[in-house]
Amino acid sequence: MIIVLLGPPGAGKGTQADKLAERLGIPKIATGDVLRAAVRDGTRRGLEAKSYMDRGDLVPDSVILGILRDVMTSPTARKGAILDGAVRTVPQAKGLTIMLAEVGRKVDKVLLFDVADDELVKRLSGRTVCESCQTPYKGRKPGTICEKCGGKLVRRKDDEPAAIRNRLDVYRLQTEPLIGWYDDHTMKVARVDADGPVDVVTSRALEALEK
Ligand code: AP5
Repeated sequence: MIIVLLGPPGAGKGTQADKLAERLGIPKIATGDVLRAAVRDGTRRGLEAKSYMDRGDLVPDSVILGILRDVMTSPTARKGAILDGAVRTVPQAKGLTIMLAEVGRKVDKVLLFDVADDELVKRLSGRTVCESCQTPYKGRKPGTICEKCGGKLVRRKDDEPAAIRNRLDVYRLQTEPLIGWYDDHTMKVARVDADGPVDVVTSRALEALEK
């Protein structure tokens, strides 16, 4: 099963992708995580992506389609994948559809996580992540120690107020039109109310997948 997760920054795509991956036994593919790893490793792809990511802009479609081709044609995605924020523009959706058709596959479900803007801002401005193992935390100050690996918690550059505002604008302008594109070209996007406790949201997402 190939599942595309859509939703604004902070909607909980990453959190829910982990839960769904565990429940469904298929891997999560998060382009944000792939890109941050490339930045840390100082690869060509990482160097190209860094300035876009720090500002909260989208990385060029060609970079994303390169990542999707690498992953979706590898044994990792043999049984399927949960694509977390991996499709954010209409050209990316078109490219993925063509790429999958070439190997006789298709997207099976598109879920949209819905959350009000003030809650998104609250979540993102309260997030810190471990600089070593990347575990996210909420309500912990930068400089606190990670429970999992003892690393230091830092704030993501794109969780600074100006970058959060830009990410929300970019989402409205470049990613929201994708909802209509999926509705018209592949299948009706399933909306999931993503405000509420994490486990409740997971149950709603699983219900939406069964419909
Ligand atoms: P990415 O890392 O994917 O950032 P994002 O989409 O902005 O998503 P976030 O990780 O901020 O939010 P999320 O929805 O995953 O929520 P999360 O579960 O983390 O991408 C970063 C950048 O990479 C992009 O800006 C872009 O530059 C580039 N990029 C990546 N993919 C791209 C693509 N396809 N095209 C072009 N560029 C691309 O949760 C957020 C916080 O809320 C956490 O602290 C969490 O604990 C908390 N939380 C989660 N669920 C709940 C809940 N139910 N209640 C309360 N708190 C909750």
